[in-house]
Amino acid sequence: MPFLSESVARVQPSPTIAVTTRAAELKAEGRDVIGLGAGEPDFDTPDHIKEAAIEAIRRGETKYTPVHGTKALREAISAKFERENGLTYSLDEIAVCCGGKQVLYNAAMATLNPGDEVVIPAPYWVSYPDIVLLAGGTPVILPGMEETGFKITPAQLDEVITPKTKWLMLNSPSNPTGAAYSAEELAAIADVLARHDHVWTMTDDIYEHITYDRFEFCTLAQVAPELKARTLTINGVSKAFSMTGWRVGYAGGPANLIKTMAKVQSQSSTHTSSISQAAAVGALNGPMGFMDEWTTKFRERRDLVVAKLNATEGLSCGVPEGAFYVYPSCAGTVGKTTPDGKIIENDSDFVTYLLEAVGVAAVSGAAFGLEPYFRISYATSVKTLADACGRIAQACESLT
Ligand SMILES: Cc1ncc(COP(=O)(O)O)c(C=O)c1O
Repeated sequence: MPFLSESVARVQPSPTIAVTTRAAELKAEGRDVIGLGAGEPDFDTPDHIKEAAIEAIRRGETKYTPVHGTKALREAISAKFERENGLTYSLDEIAVCCGGKQVLYNAAMATLNPGDEVVIPAPYWVSYPDIVLLAGGTPVILPGMEETGFKITPAQLDEVITPKTKWLMLNSPSNPTGAAYSAEELAAIADVLARHDHVWTMTDDIYEHITYDRFEFCTLAQVAPELKARTLTINGVSKAFSMTGWRVGYAGGPANLIKTMAKVQSQSSTHTSSISQAAAVGALNGPMGFMDEWTTKFRERRDLVVAKLNATEGLSCGVPEGAFYVYPSCAGTVGKTTPDGKIIENDSDFVTYLLEAVGVAAVSGAAFGLEPYFRISYATSVKTLADACGRIAQACESLT
């Protein structure tokens, strides 16, 4: 009898963390490495949010809270959904967890039985398939295509749904591609879902506020109110407010699902930190003026990276609608030889070459389920990005 759990054995350690670790090792050896693997904004959490947390400590809000958060936080979340998404959720329809990641995990644990299928469009955020596997479900990967901006088509979705399909996981704007679904595109997806009334959807809207070029964000339950009763609308403060370390994610969904998710959480983490909850209230109820400045900076960086990569032999890169990632193709480098005589067979070889030869750490497309691509996070300064892109161009020019 194996001592370690079989469901954990099926799961991979996070490949993005593996890249960050390797980059840190090289740095420790004295190598000059630029890390483009980060999945978090490089801005500080705004002061008014920090103050809300400090005031909570002073008021003595340092004790247990309800599993799904304080009333003040659930009210702030309910108001946010109403104000920004036109969605009405009562307080018993709101979950508060330790990050968006725990929302996804709790929902999977609360609903999946062996044999249940979860449709995951690729490229996907690395944790989706592993969360499904941990919960005992079966991930069904639906490959996106670059020609459709890495978005799934209604026909593709229709074809992959079986009687065993329990969930569709939809992430817009996407990690790793930055692709975001327009209202029309979501409505077309919704038409398919409307015909399969056993299929529920988790919409991961965590990058909602990071969009460019006047893209109008919308979420599935807003576009298709008839699907709200089988949609879990997931969001969080990590990316929008640069609060990754505070660990607050939340969701709106049917009360029975939310209650079952609370049961899962009550036997694991109990709730996220009371101080972080107070900070999240400060974030959701507070001013959003800083967001314009942040997205302007992100857009400038996106434009720089896209232009430099498209000027590089062997690479091509589309212009994403949101998030802070690009997902360029490195198809033009596959089959070429490095100065050390190694043949680039795939995107994993390509990112290894970038790290070893020019000290740029990116994540291979293999980690996100669609090859031959790689992910660059542009949540770093223009100067660093210009340096990194120069090194990538030099590495590509050295291939024969
Ligand atoms: C698509 C997506 N969803 C969810 C998360 C989880 O974020 P958190 O757990 O920090 O709220 C991330 C983080 O990288 C993400 O990229």
